[in-house]
Amino acid sequence: MKKILAFETSCDDTAVAIIDDDGAIIADAIYSQDLEHAPYLGVVPEIGSRAHIEQIVHVTKTAFHKAHLSPHDIDYVAATFAPGLLGPLLVGAQFAKGFCVARSIPLIAVHHIEGHILAGFGEPNFPKPPFVSLIASGGHTALYTCDEAYSVKLISQTLDDAAGEAFDKIGRALGLGYPAGKIIDELAAGGDKSYFKFPIAMRTSDHLNFSFSGLKTKALKVIMEHAPFSEQMRKDFCASLQEAIALALCERAIKACRSLGISSLAIGGGVSANARVRKMLHDSCQQEGIALYVPEKKYCTDNAVMIARAALVKIRQGKFSDCSKDVSADMPVDRIAELYKA
Ligand code: KG4
Ligand code: ZN
Repeated sequence: MKKILAFETSCDDTAVAIIDDDGAIIADAIYSQDLEHAPYLGVVPEIGSRAHIEQIVHVTKTAFHKAHLSPHDIDYVAATFAPGLLGPLLVGAQFAKGFCVARSIPLIAVHHIEGHILAGFGEPNFPKPPFVSLIASGGHTALYTCDEAYSVKLISQTLDDAAGEAFDKIGRALGLGYPAGKIIDELAAGGDKSYFKFPIAMRTSDHLNFSFSGLKTKALKVIMEHAPFSEQMRKDFCASLQEAIALALCERAIKACRSLGISSLAIGGGVSANARVRKMLHDSCQQEGIALYVPEKKYCTDNAVMIARAALVKIRQGKFSDCSKDVSADMPVDRIAELYKA
């Protein structure tokens, strides 16, 4: 069987994975930079670039060790080339190019969003296209379609903050540290989701865009008015906030499937690891007759398995890149063809 080695370094995780050409995971290693960035309550690009440089050899060796493989066993190399922080992207992409040159094997440049959308490719319950994909993370909140040729098109997106960004910024005001999404998820488990009423923007409008800045303003106002929170009230606040974000994501994802006449939905991105988001989508999809694909939690947040699986789709389609291709901080997913060899 052929083996694909993949790198994901677009933001604050140094991730390396090895999969086979059926999509099965052989090894998966990750170094999270959360501790480096936590004192600044957000990602500092320069610190991120440096940490990727320091960690990438070690994380790669860990992946090979776990796989009981050597670099000579690898047939293809993939890396995230866009979008993300330029310094961090460069570390993974240049390392991947070096590996390809040293071994004379093909390179596949992957778009980070395609990675999230195709994170489950090869798994038995992963939908056959066409399907709708909801990607909600710290940097993105958007709906996409994936057609029979695995071509991804943007349907709608947030007009301001991403869902994960809202979790992180509100969590910061609550004193929860960075990143706050997972901590809010845990605190919400012991809270009353109807205690506070948070607004859901543009709920009745025809378009499918998202907006979280009104929710953020309201949440910051509630924090100022009620601080200091009792332990229980903090849990109630987290549960109520999470409910509003889950509803905003879930309602639009279902509406997109209905309006496009598509009956499969795949989700991805860090916020799709949220327990309430997963449960609400599960229940709504069941009610609507929509087949839902939810990745394992560790493959919702950034990881290299998703990059390897998106690369597998490209390999099957004969879409390869070469070392002349550059990384891009902001390339939209519909311009991905610019990363392929002519
Ligand atoms: O996909 P990801 O790892 O990185 C980006 O591409 O942005 O997503 C990170 C985001 C952060 O905002 C983090 O707070 C959020 O996902 N997140 C969560 C949970 N786990 C991570 N938000 C809500 N609930 C969670 N369990
Ligand atoms: Zn991501």
